[in-house]
Amino acid sequence: MAMVCLSDFEAYAKKYLPKIAWDFFAAGADDCSTRDENILAYKRIHFRPRMLRDVSMMDIRTKILGTEISFPVGIAPTGFHQLAWPDGEKSTARAAKAMNTCYIASTYSTCTLEEISAAAPGGLRWFQLYVHRNREVSKNLVQRAEASGFQALVLTADLPYTGRRRDDIRNGFRLPPHMKLKNLEGAFEVCRMSLLDASVTWNDIYWLRSLTQLPIIIKGILTKEDAKLAVRHGVQGIIVSNHGGRQLDGGLATIDALVEIVEAVQGRVEVYLDGGIRKGSDVLKALALGAKCVFIGRPALWGLAYKGEEGLQDVLRILQDEFRLSMALAGCASVSEIGPHLVQFSKL
Ligand code: FNR
Repeated sequence: MAMVCLSDFEAYAKKYLPKIAWDFFAAGADDCSTRDENILAYKRIHFRPRMLRDVSMMDIRTKILGTEISFPVGIAPTGFHQLAWPDGEKSTARAAKAMNTCYIASTYSTCTLEEISAAAPGGLRWFQLYVHRNREVSKNLVQRAEASGFQALVLTADLPYTGRRRDDIRNGFRLPPHMKLKNLEGAFEVCRMSLLDASVTWNDIYWLRSLTQLPIIIKGILTKEDAKLAVRHGVQGIIVSNHGGRQLDGGLATIDALVEIVEAVQGRVEVYLDGGIRKGSDVLKALALGAKCVFIGRPALWGLAYKGEEGLQDVLRILQDEFRLSMALAGCASVSEIGPHLVQFSKL
């Protein structure tokens, strides 16, 4: 089967993954409107391409928090990579390093932070934190992440409780007994999501700040009000995200929420986006509307399910080629030339 676009990897994963794993990866909350809206929203945004602009030399590199990456697409944090490929997050880390981009490792990884670091020494990695009721557990994770070379801390703000994902409930989803939430082993019983701390507030950013020198990025922001609070509390970056539509159903697509957030922060912090990125042209639209970089969640899992780190590299390479081509056809030779003039929203 020729793998030409990200949907080919999705079809492969759907065909070959055990149903319970596929359903877990695919799930959205409730009736999945926000999950689907994340993708549909890109179709309502159209390009205003410019012509005759010398696109013979293309430069698609960018920088996030001062570090150069090969193109503005990184890997969003997702849990349980061993459900997709036996080497799990170690393969993800190797693929990200090979493609010179950023991998955000989840608290709910099936490999330890130290194993992930050792798999791809020198790779750009950020660590995603869920705050647990036992704050010592979270403190320990943050300090381990810093000690093992992770370069930023990503606090996920949109999961005080887990959204209702109907297929997971129907399937009685649990990790198979041979897989573990390795970072949390010994801390508490595996997969008891109810041990997340639902009392977290903005003040806890100060608590995190007291634990680490790492830059703090907040993930799950969807409004200008919260974006301003994030800036006021001293974070270095914001990820506009609705958790791939797995939390509150009925919210805006992330690409539709992006504009007010970019306007609100006025360049004081970097703004990133995830949710529904499936093509290089989606990346171009998100950058045109002010995202510094985007992250992929499910497509990375499909790549892993296809062929581990090679499959994930294939996914990233296809996105990279599509992004470069979209940029060129829109008349941009470098990322710095991308701006709001490139897009218009459909009037329908
Ligand atoms: C997620 N996401 C997520 N986010 C997070 O902060 N920590 C996590 O452990 C997870 N786990 C997770 C598992 C699975 C299977 C999915 C699909 C998603 C959300 C993720 O970081 C990201 O916000 C979305 O996946 C982006 O949407 P797309 O690219 O999947 O459409």
